[in-house]
Amino acid sequence: MTTQPHTPAPKRNIPADLTVDADVLDGYTGAVPRHVAVIMDGNGRWATSRGMPRLRGHHAGADSVRRTVEACRYLGVEVLTLYAFSSQNWARPEDEVAGLMTLFDLYIRRERKRLNKNDVRLRVIGDREKLSPKLRSSIADLEGHLAHNSELLLQVAVSYGGREEIVRAARLLAEAAIRGEIDPSEIDESIFSSMLYTGGQPDPDLVIRTSGELRVSNFLLWQLAYSEFHVTETLWPDFDERHFVEALNAFGNRERRFGKTGAQV
Ligand code: FPP
Repeated sequence: MTTQPHTPAPKRNIPADLTVDADVLDGYTGAVPRHVAVIMDGNGRWATSRGMPRLRGHHAGADSVRRTVEACRYLGVEVLTLYAFSSQNWARPEDEVAGLMTLFDLYIRRERKRLNKNDVRLRVIGDREKLSPKLRSSIADLEGHLAHNSELLLQVAVSYGGREEIVRAARLLAEAAIRGEIDPSEIDESIFSSMLYTGGQPDPDLVIRTSGELRVSNFLLWQLAYSEFHVTETLWPDFDERHFVEALNAFGNRERRFGKTGAQV
C-alpha cells in the first residue's frame, strides 16, 4: 500500500518518563511519516573502535532502539520497523549469534513495562522456526501482553529476509490456489501484499540506514518500492533523537512523486 505522509499529529498521551529530549523532537515541525523503517548498522565498528567485543556494540545499540521507539511514539509515527537480525546473519560467528539471541531475550524482559506504559504494540516478523523455543515463547508472550496497545506498532525483523518473505507469500498463494480458495488470475499487488508479514500496513515512507553503507541488504524488498532513503554516517549505537530529527528533516524536504511528474503532485 503506497501512502503519503500525514501532517503532524497532535501529540497525545505523551510518556511521562521520556529519556529523549522532547525539545529536540519539538523542533521538528514537518510532515510525520506514518511508517519509519531502520537498518541499524555499525554496532560492530562502534565496539571495535573502542577496543571492545562486538557484542558490546549490540548492547549499546539496544539503547538506541529505546530512544528511537520513544521518539517515534512522541511524534506520532504509527509503525517503526527495525532490522535486528537478517536471515543471512545466522552465518555470523556462533558466539555473536548466541549473544544477539540473549540480547533479544533481555530486551523483551527489560522493556516490557515501559513498552506497555507507552502504549506500544510489538510484532516480530521473520522465520520464527529458526529461533529457540524459549525465545519464541518470550516473543509470543510479550506480543500478547502488548496486543491491546495502539499508539505505535514496533515491528522487529528477526531471522528476516526480504526475498524469503516474497517466496513465502508466493508459496502461500500457490497453496491457496491449489485448495481452490483463490483464482490465480485474480492475484494482484494488493492480494500479494496481504500475504507478506506486513500485510495491511502502510509501506515505509522513510528508511534510515546508519553507518554510511549504501545497500538495502535484503530488507523489505517489496515494501520499499517508493520509500525515501536517508543514510547517515552515524553508527547505530550513537544514533539519538538529534539524528532522528535530522532524518525527518531530510524526509520533510523531499517531493514524493510516486512515478508522476513534479507538476502533477
Ligand atoms: C548490524 O551491525 C547490527 C545487527 C546485525 C544487530 C542489530 C541488533 C541490535 C541493534 C540489538 C538490539 C535490537 C533489539 C531489537 C533489541 P553490524 O554488527 O553489522 O555492525 P558492523 O557493520 O559495524 O560490523
